[in-house]
Amino acid sequence: MHRWCDAAFAFGLLDENNGELSLSDLGRAFVPETPNTVMPFAVQSVLSARIAEMAATFMKTGERPGEKILAESKSILPLFGPMLEAMYGRFFEEQILLDLPVYKETDKKGGLVVDLGCGNGWYLRKIAALFPRTRGIGIDAIEENISQARKLAQREGLADRLTFRVDDIHQRTLNKPSDLIAMNRALHHVWDEREAVFQSFKKSLRSGGSAVIWEPNWPKNRSELRNPGRLSMAFQNLAEYIQGNRFLRAEEIEAEFHRVGMETDVRLFADGNEAVIVGRKI
Ligand SMILES: C[S@@+](CC[C@H](N)C(=O)[O-])C[C@H]1O[C@@H](n2cnc3c(N)ncnc32)[C@H](O)[C@@H]1O
Repeated sequence: MHRWCDAAFAFGLLDENNGELSLSDLGRAFVPETPNTVMPFAVQSVLSARIAEMAATFMKTGERPGEKILAESKSILPLFGPMLEAMYGRFFEEQILLDLPVYKETDKKGGLVVDLGCGNGWYLRKIAALFPRTRGIGIDAIEENISQARKLAQREGLADRLTFRVDDIHQRTLNKPSDLIAMNRALHHVWDEREAVFQSFKKSLRSGGSAVIWEPNWPKNRSELRNPGRLSMAFQNLAEYIQGNRFLRAEEIEAEFHRVGMETDVRLFADGNEAVIVGRKI
């Protein structure tokens, strides 16, 4: 512990006063709960190095060890949920939520939102905090994520309307009709099984209900990757490759909705780097 404190002190993350150590302003900026926390930068700098190393190793063998590769890192796994919440929570509230009428419509009905691949549950927690009649169920394959989601929903006074459980998107046992199915950065994880996934949207949504898919919007032309705003997407796609996934184009997602007879509305955000595709069951 002393060594960690010495190192943190050296980097200005801790201050010392009369022999007592406490977080400095800089140190506080890295705490996940601090508004506008800079914690994602710290996690990403560690992750980037790991991904580059793994990509270089597996490139030689063509091996794609799959999703477990990132979940295996015991020190990073608990930071994934808070990192994604810090990176996208505010963006969701300030841009996507204001742009899409579907959340308000769901609330009017006292509707049920199901979040597939919910991570630490930030999306459902934000919706439930803003829309008092909305109920939600979040599922994720990773126990750590679900345990964080439950604790946070409890702490935020939302546990009476939100439940979270470990489940697999493919084999989910949930048979309740839903009004909104959300998948944030999760569809590309199950894209190989897209036929079954889109059929399940159609089956489990009530008439008039919507599936709202939020994904990075992979560009149509390779030349567009040279846009500075797309560099990090291109790098992240390397990590996706190792996990057996790839980023998707909005049109590919739209086409799957059409295949199962659902209407679509595509909204682009962040200079076209983020796509939200809403599929409505008519
Ligand atoms: C990039 S994370 C996004 C998490 C969350 N939606 C968010 O926006 O912060 C993708 C999530 O999908 C989950 N996931 C991937 N495949 C899954 C599956 N087959 N069943 C359940 N969850 C899955 C992962 O555990 C992970 O939490």
